Amino acid sequence: MENSHSQTYSLRQLASQRKRQPRQLSRAVSITSGKGGVGKSNIAINLGLALQDMGKNVTILDADLGLANVDVLLGKKPLYNINHVIEGEKKISEVIMEVQNGLKIIPASSGIEKLANLEQEKMDQFIHDLKEVEKNVDFFLIDTAAGITQEVLGFLTSSNEIIVVTTGEPTAITDAYAIIKSIHHKKTQAAIRIIVNMCKTDEEAEKIFSRIHAVSQRFLSRKLDFLGGIPYDEAVSLSVRAQKPFIALHPRCRASVSIRMIAKKILENRTYKNTGTLQDFFNNIKGFLS
Ligand SMILES: Nc1ncnc2c1ncn2[C@@H]1O[C@H](COP(=O)(O)OP(=O)(O)O)[C@@H](O)[C@H]1O
Ligand SMILES: [Mg+2]
Repeated sequence: MENSHSQTYSLRQLASQRKRQPRQLSRAVSITSGKGGVGKSNIAINLGLALQDMGKNVTILDADLGLANVDVLLGKKPLYNINHVIEGEKKISEVIMEVQNGLKIIPASSGIEKLANLEQEKMDQFIHDLKEVEKNVDFFLIDTAAGITQEVLGFLTSSNEIIVVTTGEPTAITDAYAIIKSIHHKKTQAAIRIIVNMCKTDEEAEKIFSRIHAVSQRFLSRKLDFLGGIPYDEAVSLSVRAQKPFIALHPRCRASVSIRMIAKKILENRTYKNTGTLQDFFNNIKGFLS
């Protein structure tokens, strides 16, 4: 009883606060690919750190449910994940891990699909707790699994922007197009942006983008944006082995220079249409999966 009373009270408090404060909006940006192993998790972490260095607050949702890879890349072991929050065992603030320079990670484990069947009361509590988190989030980066599954499409269609990562390999390019097609058919308005990873030169990256863009324009009438290329760089695999982000371990390496350029481009981009709240994001996912 008392609990529900104080809950009502805090809800009322929040409602009155909202009248005074402008509603905080975040940019939910999914990072995805058709093919695995193209560099999504490395891009999520290093892009997150680059944006963080540029004064933004970044939280990464580690949503590759099969491989908990963000924490492995950073050499950190999370005690809890979003599953504990959905089950009501932990608060979201207890699950968020600060990893470096203010960059935060939410380990997702396999909890997300449970959102689909979550009772409304628990969902309300979860959404309510997200408000606290939201105050410190400018960018919400979602590191998804590779491939076209309902879960991945749920993340993508709930995001404001989608970054599709590919390499120059023909299989990666065809798989990138396949995921773009699936996104398009879900009728999402999200901007679709491309990063070409592990390329030899900027020219090669641009060529690969142009090929994907041409097919997308021709068959889907869908415009794509080019965020840039990241060269194949030995410093990346060295950093992976050292379990440190390459932008921290080798700030001057070619991959780090490219990541910072991409971060700048994302910040300067004024064409994105919709920002939203984290509540919108998780509500959308629940709706999609239900
Ligand atoms: N730009 C790059 N240069 C060299 N190696 C890279 C680069 N990007 C990624 N890699 C290598 O590819 C591997 C897979 O990257 P990862 O980020 O885990 O991919 P994904 O999340 O898409 O599965 C990494 O372990 C790293 O060694
Ligand atoms: Mg990964």
